[in-house]
Formats: sequence, structure tokens, C-alpha cells
Amino acid sequence: MVSATLDNETRPGLSVQISRVSHAYRTGAEPVDVIDNVTFGVDPGEFVALLGPSGCGKSTLLRLVAGLDQPSEGKVGTDMVRVTGPDPARLLVFQDPTLFPWRTVRQNIALGLEARGVAGDHRAATDEALALVGLEAFADALPHELSGGMAQRAALARVLINHPRLLLLDEPFGKLDALTRMTLQGELLRLWQQGGFTTMLVTHDVEEALLLAQRVIVFGPRPASVVFEAEVDLPYPRHRDDPGFIALRRDILIALGHGEEL
Ligand SMILES: Nc1ncnc2c1ncn2[C@@H]1O[C@H](COP(=O)(O)OP(=O)(O)O)[C@@H](O)[C@H]1O
Ligand SMILES: [Mg+2]
Repeated sequence: MVSATLDNETRPGLSVQISRVSHAYRTGAEPVDVIDNVTFGVDPGEFVALLGPSGCGKSTLLRLVAGLDQPSEGKVGTDMVRVTGPDPARLLVFQDPTLFPWRTVRQNIALGLEARGVAGDHRAATDEALALVGLEAFADALPHELSGGMAQRAALARVLINHPRLLLLDEPFGKLDALTRMTLQGELLRLWQQGGFTTMLVTHDVEEALLLAQRVIVFGPRPASVVFEAEVDLPYPRHRDDPGFIALRRDILIALGHGEEL
């Protein structure tokens, strides 16, 4: 069977351009400024972590890159083309896996293809996606039969089935226990290294950012602006007790205003 979704051609990751972006929500009586003049770029295939305090505007920024919202000011682009709406090439994974409870894991993963109108037999594509996240044995399970980590793997597979060129992750491991989170962090690293896609990971966990990303961009309290940026020039797998890791963690904590706790 030949299907456009099954080819394994290596598609390079998308570059990202965020230029003088500001954003305000105008849902209430007063506009709420959430992003203040943010400018940075992401290289094709790069893994960047976006770190900042809760409520500072990280999710909003990711939604702008995903094309789910338009910035009040400034421009968001990928591969130098302005983002004007959602696109299967750049997909967002949320903290909450949001699987449909009445659909099996395989049927939930197939939703990724159905959502973009891919017709036909999805078995081979779902098999591949299930294998990518190690859920082969749970293809026919229902979401309530899964652990939190497995559910998040299924959510990841539903996105990966579309071979995204830009993976946007919004605190995807935030609700998982520490051991499961470590396992999934390792799996994400493997998927990124094999997949060649660009990754933007939103997190409020300094160690998660330093374990995974090649670059960490730190935002201040709302409205988000870039207060610090660090290249993480450490080989994978990273170790929390590495002197370079410890030094970067200290710098980032100071940028976040927590230097005095050391
Ligand atoms: N749809 C919305 N309408 C109005 N305010 C919003 C909306 N979404 C988020 N906010 C507000 O914008 C701020 C930033 O939210 P968010 O981007 O979710 O931050 P973070 O992801 O860093 O925790 C918060 O104060 C939040 O309450
Ligand atoms: Mg958020």
C-alpha cells in the first residue's frame, strides 16, 4: 500500500521566526498584556526550551506559533512564511492528553490523520506511530486503561503520525510522576534525534529544560519578555551533577529571581 503519510523521507525541521511579538487578551473589560516585544529565532531541527514562571505567557506564545491565535503586534513565521493558521506541519501537544474515552488507542492515534482528511486504511501508519512510542501492546486499549504516561505517549503518537516538522510541546510531562517523566523525557529525546523535527518545549522545570534542550530561553513574569538565554553545549544524555549543568541551572535560577535560594 502506498500512502503519502507513510513515506519516511527525511523532511528537515522548520525554522521559526518570532519578530517583535506582543500579545494582549481582550476578552474581559481591561486588555491583559501577556507578551511584550519578544524576538527570537529557532533553527531547523533545533530543540529549544521556553522557560518562565506560571502565568507569564508561555502557552500563549506557543499558540501563536501553532497558528491558533494571531499576535496583537509583530510577526510569527516558519521557514520565513507568516503563520496565519494551524497546519499539520506544526503540531501542539498539551499537558492534558485529551484522548477520546470511547475510542481505542489506535483509533485515537488515527484521529491525527482523520483531522487532516487523510482517507483510507490507517493501519500501517498507526502501527508505525504506536511503535514509535512503545504502545504496540495497547493498540486496542481504551484510554481509561492507560497510565498517565501511556496516555501522554498516545497523544504524542497522534501528533507524530503526521510527521510534523515542528513539534510544539506545552508542559507535556507536567502532570506525570517523577519517574514516568524521566522515562518520557528520554523517549522525547530519542524521537527528536531520530525525527529531525524542530522542537519548542514549554516548561517551568529548569532541569527538564537543561536535560533536553540545546538552548533555553527564559521569560520574566507576565507580560513575557526574554530575560535570559543560554546555549546548552552539553552532550546527551545529560547528567544533573555535571558541573556545566549545575552552572547553567544556577544562572537560569538567578534569571528567574531565585538566586538567593542557592
Ligand atoms: N483566552 C484568554 N483570555 C484571557 N486571558 C487569558 C487567556 N489565556 C490566557 N490568559 C491569561 O494570560 C496570561 C498568560 O497565560 P499563559 O500563556 O497560559 O501562561 P503560561 O503558559 O506561562 O502559564 C495569564 O494571566 C492567563 O490568565
Ligand atoms: Mg501554560
